[in-house]
Amino acid sequence: MINRRNLIKSTTITAAALFSGCRRFTNQERALSGLSAAFEGQFRFGTSIKNNTLQSNDTNLLTLIAKEFNAITANNAMKWEGLQPKLNEFNWQIADKFIDFGQQNNMHITGHVLVWHKQIPNYVFIKDDKIISKKLLLQRMEQHISNVMERYKKVTEWDVVNEAIVGGKWLESKWYKIIGPDYVKRAFQFARNANPSATLIYNDYGITNPKKQQAILGLLSKLNNSGVRVDGVGMQSHFSLEKNFPSTDMIEQTIETFARQGYQVFITELDVDVLPRAWKYVRQPPLQQLHINEISIREAKYLDPYPNGLPEKVSKELADRYASIFNVFSRQSDNISRVTVWGTLDTESWKHDWPILGRTNYPLLFDNKGNPKQAYFSVLGEGNN
Ligand code: GLA
Repeated sequence: MINRRNLIKSTTITAAALFSGCRRFTNQERALSGLSAAFEGQFRFGTSIKNNTLQSNDTNLLTLIAKEFNAITANNAMKWEGLQPKLNEFNWQIADKFIDFGQQNNMHITGHVLVWHKQIPNYVFIKDDKIISKKLLLQRMEQHISNVMERYKKVTEWDVVNEAIVGGKWLESKWYKIIGPDYVKRAFQFARNANPSATLIYNDYGITNPKKQQAILGLLSKLNNSGVRVDGVGMQSHFSLEKNFPSTDMIEQTIETFARQGYQVFITELDVDVLPRAWKYVRQPPLQQLHINEISIREAKYLDPYPNGLPEKVSKELADRYASIFNVFSRQSDNISRVTVWGTLDTESWKHDWPILGRTNYPLLFDNKGNPKQAYFSVLGEGNN
């Protein structure tokens, strides 16, 4: 058996050595070290990949990803605006690269995402300058889903619908306004027809919130009762260091609740924001984001406290937070199919620009140079080996 101390040591050395070249990994090789190896037998361990990593063929980052993870999600390449930027004009280029990379490295691939209200071109909802009918929108939805799932038949797991519920209610997106609440059901039906054996997931953020949790449970059980099967629930898991929100109890209770109802649980977009919450600076509606430079110097100092590096104390707090989260995941591993972090290097994270633009955040497991952070080692320490 590999002793954990040796495992950690060998991981660091190998990562540094491999970082200068790009190579492929088999499952056997990956099983010797890295994050997915540490949780072998518990759940798949994935990351998301950005378009520019694939387009520029960033061999350093791709090699690190192939070594550490056994599952991948495209950050943007498989969203509607990426795949069908114009009506009936599909652009498969980057998504094909993403799929090739996963297949070459024997990785599990998740299709993300078929139906969402964001990153979707306006044409979808419009014809001759008018909002289209329910019938036409359903046709467009079906056509998109079947085209995408047909091309990527080998992808056996799909985020079908993203973020339909806000608080305890329906989000009044264009999907909802034109089709009505049935749009979620229809999306799952179209996806099921396109690939009957695929694992189909409903994905959302903030599911630890009891109201939202109940609303999603209600929605999914309605679908299942009407014969439209939803296999799993994706908990995006954009967590915070501030106030350790949400608590590990809430996280665990949420996983248990969905599992008890028979859903596979997927942790789909994990990151831990180390910066103070900044929601009050977002003006909505419509959503308008401020840049950190537009805020008074005094407030900016508070909101963006670590522009030149994460202090040791906070780095340790982040590592502890990650350890306690993975402690829950390990305990709940019978109920969890996959844990995916939303990016590999800190520099890739969307959290520098959300909810306000231009801050410096440290939410992931590797620093900007690809070195494992304290948080990486604390996660590894929660693994099996
Ligand atoms: C949501 C989406 C992701 C990503 C993040 C922000 O969680 O599901 O695809 O866009 O927002 O980066």
